[in-house]
Amino acid sequence: MNEIVEKKVWWQDAPAIKEFEVKAPWIAEKHQAGQFVVLKVSENGERIPLTVSDKDVKKGTINILFQEVGATTMTLGRLSKGDKILDLTGPLGKPTHIEKFGTVVCIGGGIGVAPVHPIAQAFKAAGNKVISILGARTKGILIYEERMRKTSDEVRITTDDGSYGRHGFVTDELKAMIESGMKIDLVVTIGPAIMMKMVCKVTEPYKIHTYASLNTIMLDGTGMCGACRVTVGGKTKFVCVDGPEFDGHQVNFDEMMARLRQYLDEEKLAREICQKNTCGVR
Ligand code: FES
Repeated sequence: MNEIVEKKVWWQDAPAIKEFEVKAPWIAEKHQAGQFVVLKVSENGERIPLTVSDKDVKKGTINILFQEVGATTMTLGRLSKGDKILDLTGPLGKPTHIEKFGTVVCIGGGIGVAPVHPIAQAFKAAGNKVISILGARTKGILIYEERMRKTSDEVRITTDDGSYGRHGFVTDELKAMIESGMKIDLVVTIGPAIMMKMVCKVTEPYKIHTYASLNTIMLDGTGMCGACRVTVGGKTKFVCVDGPEFDGHQVNFDEMMARLRQYLDEEKLAREICQKNTCGVR
């Protein structure tokens, strides 16, 4: 079992945003940018994928950041420093294809900023100019700004309510950059499915290659159950083993969003039950 050595609460209001630093030496050593872990909090609980947002190989720890939007993440959020995570498997998925492209724009929306962080680090280390666009609903829930500033040549912020940075969406900032004539060689986007879809819509007419890191429902995380399937370029792909990153211009986002909505009733019920009791965790 993997011990939580540090716990940080980024945002307390529901849905809360929390981050754990977890002892997992083997994963910390093997993990490459873009890869994720699958974890299970209680014996009868579901397995959920979370992307590794940071790591310390010397300490043998990885960081995972999550928002308490469902029963499992709420249960996870109740764990404290010193507690152990029942099951933690990884690293899973294909690493991001890293090379020197030139100027790489890394776009993170909401808690999607956290998984963008190691990818931005890797592109920077490969000699790219990294410009990051971080989006949040409001200033208070913007995460990882400091870390992203350390790993980017430039950071641009957008908030939906205009409380910090540009008033608007990450796509507004991206559009403005492209329309100003800036040469962009690659865009990487992670965040809500609708945001990634819109980012891809902005870059497609300009033929700017765009990686989208997909966050589908997952069960086994090893390509056997089919829960994470998506259509990319007209073909069925499994996010857990073929991804999580795909050519964003080829992804059928509408189908993916419909699949993400298919268990909403069950998720609501599980959340309500979890709010009333401890979901198997003290
Ligand atoms: S999670 Fe089961 S096939 Fe991907």
